[in-house]
Amino acid sequence: MTSNEGGAPRRLRFEIFRYNPEDPGSNPQMQTYELDEAPYMSLFIALNQIRETLDPSLQFDFACRSAICGSCGMMVNGRPALGCRTLTSDLPDVIRLHPLPVFKLIGDLSVDTGTWFREMVEKSEAWIHAEEAFDPEAQEARMDDELAQAIYEGERCIECGCCVASCGVANVNEDFTGPAGLNRIARFMMDPRDKRSDADWFEVVSNADGVFGCLGMMACHDVCPKELPLLEVYAYLRRKTLAAAFAGKEE
Ligand code: SF4
Ligand code: FES
Repeated sequence: MTSNEGGAPRRLRFEIFRYNPEDPGSNPQMQTYELDEAPYMSLFIALNQIRETLDPSLQFDFACRSAICGSCGMMVNGRPALGCRTLTSDLPDVIRLHPLPVFKLIGDLSVDTGTWFREMVEKSEAWIHAEEAFDPEAQEARMDDELAQAIYEGERCIECGCCVASCGVANVNEDFTGPAGLNRIARFMMDPRDKRSDADWFEVVSNADGVFGCLGMMACHDVCPKELPLLEVYAYLRRKTLAAAFAGKEE
């Protein structure tokens, strides 16, 4: 059976990765739990039920339960997804859960995405580089509506890490900026308040760890729960960096 939309009640079998890297006696293994499926059961509900009724030691992360905080990314039958917005009715009777790869494992399904994102932000200096000191008395800078909307698209990223986990390059190159990183760079590149020159951006993104490291497999685009336009982001970055490269040749 592949899913159970509107079907008869099912007994679900959860096969969950278990490992505590802090415990020298712990060995990576899969552990099986069974639950009766309930209507509108999400993985958030199922995992909490497992922890409350079957195994209080099971580690996983959730906070908002509504696809906002980005903390519940996990591999669901081999595909990165948010646990809080994945319904068991969309899954087969056997549900295999693993932690997201690429990120440091905390334990079981819980990973540390925060360190990865902080390092990416520091490496690419993903913040506004203004020339003038901040003046709290000054009026807010005005911005064209269309541009503000384009920047907002990038800001919708919840840093769940699903795109990074799905990326073949990020899985083998730990220095790769990754889809979420490239999206963040593009957001600041578009922002007229960021005064970095094309040449500065060229240094940040135009290399094998940046946009030219992407092999175009586009799993990131398919798995992003916020449906960010990642394909357009890479096209924008390539256009901008190539323009900067040709401008440099003409000088
Ligand atoms: Fe998650 Fe999408 Fe942001 Fe990647 S781009 S971290 S998949 S919200
Ligand atoms: Fe916040 Fe899933 S619990 S995104």
